[in-house]
Amino acid sequence: MDYKVADLSLADFGRREIRLAEHEMPGLMAVRKEYSATKPLRGAKIMGSLHMTIQTAVLIETLVDLGADVRWVSCNIFSTQDHAAAAVVVGRDGTQDDPKGVPVFAWKGETLEEYWWCTDQALQWPDGSAPNMILDDGGDATLLVHKGAEYEKAGAVPTASEDDPHEWGVILDTLRRTIADRPGRWTETAAEIKGVTEETTTGVHRLYEMAKAGTLAFPAINVNDSVTKSKFDNKYGCRHSVIDGLNRATDVLIGGKVAVVCGYGDVGKGCSEALRGQGARVIVTEIDPICALQAAMDGFQVTTLEDVVETADIFVTTTGNFNIITADHMSRMKHQAIVSNIGHFDNEIDMAGLAKIPGIEKIEIKPQVHEWRFSDGHSIIVLAEGRLMNLGCATGHPSFVMSNSFTNQVIAQIELYTKTEEYPIGVYVLPKHLDEKVARLHLDALGVKLTELTKEQAAYIGVDVEGPYKPDHYRY
Ligand code: NAI
Repeated sequence: MDYKVADLSLADFGRREIRLAEHEMPGLMAVRKEYSATKPLRGAKIMGSLHMTIQTAVLIETLVDLGADVRWVSCNIFSTQDHAAAAVVVGRDGTQDDPKGVPVFAWKGETLEEYWWCTDQALQWPDGSAPNMILDDGGDATLLVHKGAEYEKAGAVPTASEDDPHEWGVILDTLRRTIADRPGRWTETAAEIKGVTEETTTGVHRLYEMAKAGTLAFPAINVNDSVTKSKFDNKYGCRHSVIDGLNRATDVLIGGKVAVVCGYGDVGKGCSEALRGQGARVIVTEIDPICALQAAMDGFQVTTLEDVVETADIFVTTTGNFNIITADHMSRMKHQAIVSNIGHFDNEIDMAGLAKIPGIEKIEIKPQVHEWRFSDGHSIIVLAEGRLMNLGCATGHPSFVMSNSFTNQVIAQIELYTKTEEYPIGVYVLPKHLDEKVARLHLDALGVKLTELTKEQAAYIGVDVEGPYKPDHYRY
């Protein structure tokens, strides 16, 4: 088996944590029970690009139990948990000397060159064949296939310009190398893929852009916008893991500090609530009047970053947008202000601009925690080099909330793989009855007793006793 992880000797530790996680992931366990006899994913060759954590290990082994052949990478250079990666490679029946699990190409602290090499490795099977499904988080695997096929059609891979981010040059180099190795590879891969299921807001945004431009090559299911994903993982998951990230990175007392949360979408709502829960005085910035009004009515001060940049202690960006905190902002912050991002990509904070400030010095406190000292002697602390701090500095969301997200992922994979003809090229969300099913699978574990509608009540509000209980336009 081909694979590349940090250290296979961590597999036993990973396996012990996977065992605990399974108990906390009732949705995934129920899906295993429902489908492992019929194996609806038999014949599926799934390439996964999603943070290689303990929770993801439970997802991967669920896909395997349903019949799939899987290869995996992390979707961020810092988010891999090396013991999880090792346990997945060794597998449930293997040993370190004879691994029998799933090929994983991921370790904590990859370079960007290694990251795109890993993505390329997982997008080809040892016999040279391509995957027929992608499970993506942020859209990097989908991007590589689409750009590869586009440049093969154009007959050349362009050269990155001086203004392009460094990462874009790495992506172009990866494509140039792989096309030279095997011309036509990406066109074949794009044709082979039946569909992609996408995990996060940022990846979904990319998919809708491609669908709008007419460049989307295969159907996609937007898993993020299942209610049981974005209204749970993005909100309650970040409510847990934003504090975990801050604590493990700095252990600074949050109570009494002024924390600025940029963006009050699902992630921003979870982060703001968590920081307030720790006793921070939380200030929100927003561009959307609806979200700004929500923040105000939830009791947060809403103002611009300009107003508070010099006085706040902790900054968390949650926008999925870019250039939220600029180099100029950072140079004006107070001594030892903490700067972090929990959105998908690192461009919410202008790290390249920070590095170019004359006289700036970067001091590593420990991996993924850096002090940036300005020439006047004052400094700021930047977490995870501007990448998502809950996965870079801590271990991301806990199992129970990821069980909701990943049960949606598995159901979406089954939908696209087994009913391909029902999904012409486009971007879809799962039907509401499946969303409700995911929620239902998590109630018992929390001791929730659901009230049942009477037939008369169901008729009165115009729904079926079995659901769905809300129209598609309901917002929760
Ligand atoms: P969302 O669209 O619900 O919220 C983003 C908010 O930011 C919106 O309300 C928008 O109006 C606001 N915004 C945009 N530009 C802004 C600006 N210049 N200043 C202030 N506010 C601005 O998106 P969601 O679901 O909250 O996701 C946000 C990001 O977090 C995405 O990149 C997503 O992929 C990522 N994410 C990260 C997770 C993690 O574990 N680290 C988990 C889930 C999502």
